[in-house]
Amino acid sequence: MSGRRKVTVVGAGNVGATCAQELARRDYADVVLVDIKENLPQGKALDMNQAAAVLGYEPGIVGSNGYGETAGSEVVVITAGLPRSPGMSRDDLVTTNERIVRSVTEAAMAESPDAILLVVSNPLDAMCHVARSASSWPKERVFGMAGILDTARFSAFIAWQTGTSVKDVTAMVLGGHGDQMVPVVSATTVGGVPLRRLVADEAIEAMVERTRKGGGEIVNLLGTSAWYAPAAAAAQMVDAIVLDEKRLLPCTAYLEGEYGIEGLYMGVPVKLGAAGIEEIVELDLSEAEQEAMRASAEAVRDVVSVLSGS
Ligand code: NAI
Ligand code: 2OP
Repeated sequence: MSGRRKVTVVGAGNVGATCAQELARRDYADVVLVDIKENLPQGKALDMNQAAAVLGYEPGIVGSNGYGETAGSEVVVITAGLPRSPGMSRDDLVTTNERIVRSVTEAAMAESPDAILLVVSNPLDAMCHVARSASSWPKERVFGMAGILDTARFSAFIAWQTGTSVKDVTAMVLGGHGDQMVPVVSATTVGGVPLRRLVADEAIEAMVERTRKGGGEIVNLLGTSAWYAPAAAAAQMVDAIVLDEKRLLPCTAYLEGEYGIEGLYMGVPVKLGAAGIEEIVELDLSEAEQEAMRASAEAVRDVVSVLSGS
């Protein structure tokens, strides 16, 4: 490998492999792709290294079934685990993925003790608790990706509904990464104009509902869960960390009283930079949005209570 910085992606499936290539195309870090399936990370890494000749990126991508190659990573993105299949909720995944995320966290942290852990595996909020408990690392360095994806879905629907460029949509989806997530309509604008001035309440409610069920909509179409938008979202978080961008992004952070929620991972706006979560930003939510945050927190607590903790 070169003298470049290093990012590891664990899980060389749909999300992990797509994220690895997104990152390689950034040109700022070598990428190590780890999976338990023999030959899978090696084969995908070889393919991505050859794609570099066409696409013009320079970082090396290494595929491995072990963690030796991951040593000294700045960020470890955890995508290992089962995805959803039709009829399965995110929460059904909890037991299997708890075991996987715990073992991956332990193996990765042993090689990269100063890394930041970025969890993607589902059920996302609960898997952040697993990574934190397995690592005992500070909350600033263990967090998850969901809000950028959920916000991307809401933004896409708003752009279609209003016939405007998605670049001009500013939205924010908070809460747990489940059907009780909280699209914050009061903070949503198109070109600076509040969404409620542009779109009738019924149409907004339909977009909110579609966003909440956005993961399931794709599972029903594909028989497995989404990966292009999730991988792009995870890569955007890695950018913010590696490049110390101080982006304000919705991420799954450990709350200790913020938004009135204690001791729980939930999606909230954070400032993301080289130290990880550098600040949790508290928005002024409407009473209805605050109530929706509380309901979402209860839904997350239900899943967290299923964790074995062992
Ligand atoms: P996938 O099945 O395509 O890939 C998962 C990979 O993990 C497989 O290659 C598997 O061999 C590997 N794996 C399993 N156990 C492992 C272990 N102990 N060590 C290393 N690798 C291991 O699944 P996909 O679609 O990539 O999804 C990955 C996870 O991300 C799922 O849990 C999915 O639900 C979640 N997800 C989360 C999103 C979010 O917004 N947070 C969005 C999309 C997916
Ligand atoms: C998604 O939202 C299933 O969490 C995954 O696409």
